[in-house]
Amino acid sequence: MASSIWLHFIRRLGKRRRRIQKSRWARQARWQSAMAGGSIAQSGRVHYNVPVRCDGAGTVRLETDVTLGYGAGPRYGNGEILLQARSNDAVITIGSRTVANNNLQIIANRSVRIGTECLIGELVSIYDSDFHETNPLERMGESDGKVSEVVIGNNVWIGSRSIILKGTTIGDNTVIAAGSIVAKSIPANVIAGGNPAKVIKEKITE
Ligand SMILES: CC(C)(COP(=O)(O)OP(=O)(O)OC[C@H]1O[C@@H](n2cnc3c(N)ncnc32)[C@H](O)[C@@H]1OP(=O)(O)O)[C@@H](O)C(=O)NCCC(=O)NCCS
Repeated sequence: MASSIWLHFIRRLGKRRRRIQKSRWARQARWQSAMAGGSIAQSGRVHYNVPVRCDGAGTVRLETDVTLGYGAGPRYGNGEILLQARSNDAVITIGSRTVANNNLQIIANRSVRIGTECLIGELVSIYDSDFHETNPLERMGESDGKVSEVVIGNNVWIGSRSIILKGTTIGDNTVIAAGSIVAKSIPANVIAGGNPAKVIKEKITE
């Protein structure tokens, strides 16, 4: 009897601790963003389940019920998610009810837009820029190389450890297989995978 009361007490304490930690991560992200000259625009409740670094000068838009991090998921370090809208006019948008696993990195110099109800596996990277010129004479310079927006549709599932590169679009309902590198746009309603990612299965609803 005494041990079950004790267990109950410990569980409640754990829950309370997690709640406090989550609101601390939310505050930290807002504070960091403001310090960098940027902002986080939330249209509703957002679930911060890991630390989230928002240290860009642009805007991070998080719609209602976005989930950042997954407590039971694999993680490197503390599982930190990076949402870095680097330049003043850069925007990262994550649509409502999208769930991102630990260690997601999004870096935008212009725009990365993710639709609603997407699933994003752990260690996924999404970049709208190359960050360096390919020309060896200019590579060490200040340029961010080619910059072109990334658009990810609704209900897209991006498998773990995939990399989504500049200028790509992924259509609604599509699955990107684990470990893929998306260098060209992928249509809606398919499974695509590999490096570079190509359609490997069509008609995924059959
Ligand atoms: C994409 C995925 C869902 C496909 O599952 P599936 O429908 O059962 O497909 P299959 O295993 O029958 O594979 C279909 C084809 O795609 C290929 N394929 C599967 N996964 C692949 C991958 N990650 N990269 C490249 N090709 C892949 C298969 O080899 C097969 O090729 P074939 O037709 O030439 O034999 C699964 O392979 C995957 O990547 N899951 C992601 C899991 C994940 O990251 N979860 C994270 C938590 S959100």
